[in-house]
Amino acid sequence: MPVPATILVGVQWGDEGKGRVADWLAIQADVVGRYAGGDNAGHTVQLGEQSFKLHLIPSGILQHHVICVLGHGMVINPERLLAEIGNLAAQGIDTSPERLLVSERAHIITPGHIALDSAHETALGDQSIGTTKRGIGPAYTDKIKRTGIQAGLMRSPEAFGERIRQHIENVNASLPTAASALDADTITAEYTAHAEALAPYVTNTVPPIHTALRSGKQLLCEGAQGTLLDIDMGHYPYVTSSSASVGGALTGLGFGPSEVERVVGVAKAFSTRVGSGPMPTELHDEVGDRLRGTGDNPWDEFGTTTGRPRRCGWLDGVVLRYAAQVNGLTELVLTKLDVLSGFETINVAVAYEIDGVQTEDLPGNEAEMARAVPVYETLPGWKEDIMHVRDWHDLPPAAQNYVNFIASLVHIPITYLSVGPERNQIIVL
Ligand code: GDP
Ligand code: IMO
Ligand code: MG
Repeated sequence: MPVPATILVGVQWGDEGKGRVADWLAIQADVVGRYAGGDNAGHTVQLGEQSFKLHLIPSGILQHHVICVLGHGMVINPERLLAEIGNLAAQGIDTSPERLLVSERAHIITPGHIALDSAHETALGDQSIGTTKRGIGPAYTDKIKRTGIQAGLMRSPEAFGERIRQHIENVNASLPTAASALDADTITAEYTAHAEALAPYVTNTVPPIHTALRSGKQLLCEGAQGTLLDIDMGHYPYVTSSSASVGGALTGLGFGPSEVERVVGVAKAFSTRVGSGPMPTELHDEVGDRLRGTGDNPWDEFGTTTGRPRRCGWLDGVVLRYAAQVNGLTELVLTKLDVLSGFETINVAVAYEIDGVQTEDLPGNEAEMARAVPVYETLPGWKEDIMHVRDWHDLPPAAQNYVNFIASLVHIPITYLSVGPERNQIIVL
């Protein structure tokens, strides 16, 4: 009897190409569930001329045979979910409640949470986290304080509207100035209407997941963010507010580790980060600029959600090794290998030097991580464009050497190489 669950996690600071890889792995899945985060995520999938930008709905929706679940580990902005359902439908994707299930236990993001997120970031000044200002932190705060609003209440739109009104009035009382007060009447009316529209999607998602698991169906769990943004695994406070790594899949969808066969880490072939917080291999030079790109290519390093330029640098092997350990990765997928074409040499951090002492362990606190200086191994680069390559043997030897070096650094097999944003731009190893 095959063990049916695969968990996909980002192993860096997000934007590793999880959406693209989830779309590929979903070919063999029956159910695809998102387990954490909200519309702070931005997952891009390119299918020919069509570019799909997913923020809340799992990328699996693009495989027509798949059922998608928005799990209870998520925080959901109803307005944004409706917009995404509408956009996908306009692009010819079936987004009916028969194939899109929203957990009644998920928590709701309101304009109040968004206002609080902005106010908190403004108050922090130059210490700000650089959040996506999507209300993520305040919504999870309400969940943990047990004052949040669950998606299940949308099945009673009037009662939901009243809870929204109370919540907006509470937020108004706590916002810094009266000038920023939110219009409770308008928001109540809008959110009552959103609840009416979304009610058919809201359900108890645990039974259908377990019915699928019991009948040997394949469950793919699509992560958002990345291990170094996980509330526990990252460098607090420069993290998001959810469990973005492997444990989040179990609690965020509701199943046990005995169901899990594969834990697939997605790593970009170099490092990027959006927002504040330590990033030892960040480059402020022309190499960093070249990794980022100018924005001319759709895959250049500008955020899918906020459009912010991403901080760029060489691959960090210390981060990868840590992520492999804490997630129990069984395999690694390497994306954007094509972007490294044309470099004379390529650096990979294999250790850090912190206060004059060399270590291969990732520091457990932000202050130490901020003082980490990467110790690089320099590998030869390759000149050839590899976006058309589909077979390992057709890769330039220097590219093969780079991939083998990473696999030996993390002690797990690399199973796929992505060499472009398109579904078929992949090398199966
Ligand atoms: P996610 O948040 O982890 O899903 O990643 P994003 O979608 O935010 O960012 C990845 C970007 O790189 C998107 O624009 C993808 O279309 C693109 N992409 C993914 N894999 C590859 C690849 O192998 N090569 C290139 N050139 N682009 C890729
Ligand atoms: P995907 O799923 C990259 C970052 C923000 C900020 C920090 C906290 O596309 O990989 P938040 O709004 O969550 O409170 O912001 O986390 N962040 C991401 N960075 N990719 C993401 O998602 C991210 N989601 C949040 O930039 O530094
Ligand atoms: Mg992204």
